[in-house]
Amino acid sequence: MSDLEAARIEAEAQRLFESLGQTTDFKTGLKRSAEYCRSIAPLTLKINDLKREKDAVILAHYYCTPDIVYGIADFKGDSYALAKKAAQAEQKNIIFCGVYFMAQTAKIISPDKNVFLPPVTAGCSLADGIDAEEAAKLKAKYPEAALVCYINSTAEVKAFCDVCVTSSNVYDIVCALPNKQIVFVPDLFMAENIRAELKRRGVEKDIISFGSTCCVHDKYTVRDIEEIKFAHPKAKIISHPECPRPVCELSDYCGSTSGMLSYVKESGAEEFAVLSEDGIVNSLELENPSKTFYPVSGTCAQMKRNTLNNVWGVLENLDKAPRVEVNCDVALKAKRCIDNMFKMAGK
Ligand code: 13P
Ligand code: SF4
Repeated sequence: MSDLEAARIEAEAQRLFESLGQTTDFKTGLKRSAEYCRSIAPLTLKINDLKREKDAVILAHYYCTPDIVYGIADFKGDSYALAKKAAQAEQKNIIFCGVYFMAQTAKIISPDKNVFLPPVTAGCSLADGIDAEEAAKLKAKYPEAALVCYINSTAEVKAFCDVCVTSSNVYDIVCALPNKQIVFVPDLFMAENIRAELKRRGVEKDIISFGSTCCVHDKYTVRDIEEIKFAHPKAKIISHPECPRPVCELSDYCGSTSGMLSYVKESGAEEFAVLSEDGIVNSLELENPSKTFYPVSGTCAQMKRNTLNNVWGVLENLDKAPRVEVNCDVALKAKRCIDNMFKMAGK
């Protein structure tokens, strides 16, 4: 190795340590070390060089591991922010570190780009909760209703829906729809949270739900909250609307991933218990170094299938790596549903 190369690796290790060094590795309970950063620096450096060489942008959901989010991603975000970034990407190639429905959404929004999902088959228990046939049946059964899907759904399901939503805009969009009857798929717990929020806002609508739950957020219980309150009475409880309704009801804040980041930043409190995926806890730690976090551990195994190695594998073989493709007719219909969200979210 030349002196120049060694110096670049050392500088990369230091850059990584500035961010990763503040994050906890939940497997050990320890902050990530300088040695760890040094061990991954040659690979993050190679990836960062390659993505520029190959006109690629890396988008990463907060639930990916911090080596991805803070080591190689050009943009990090929640589902809504990443969908917007995919629409604005200037590069020819989008490497999406997330799960399949996210990469599919990026392809629909930017059909001229090559979109890659490094763990080719990474799925989501919500997106698996309804298929196109079931969506078609709901549309036929409730002709007066607006069919609203959470962004965590397949392109084939979106193609049947009037508008899609993310956790950052769901309540405003559902309220703004003229229909009294709303069929919401596929998150059963979010549907319960919509009912409660509408009631709080004094908006009368009939929410019909169908689908499944997030296999990470559906594990949280009232018991978890009771235990946290006992152990850390000063901690503010924050949760995601994919959690069961009783958990959200008892939380000081329940909202989207970006909403949690803003809530913690703006809060005067010093301690927070986080009932959501570990990745967001790492971002909270990093962005709020003076605050203390008590994660109630939750790990999305599918998001964790994004690794430095499989991103590097895609970049090395960009011409041969499998691309995310969506049938033209399906993509056209699904795009209308996604565009309706961008219009209604208005930001
Ligand atoms: P947001 O990124 O919209 O907060 O959703 C969380 C999630 O579970 C993504 O799959
Ligand atoms: Fe799907 Fe839940 Fe994983 Fe998000 S955290 S990708 S909703 S399984």
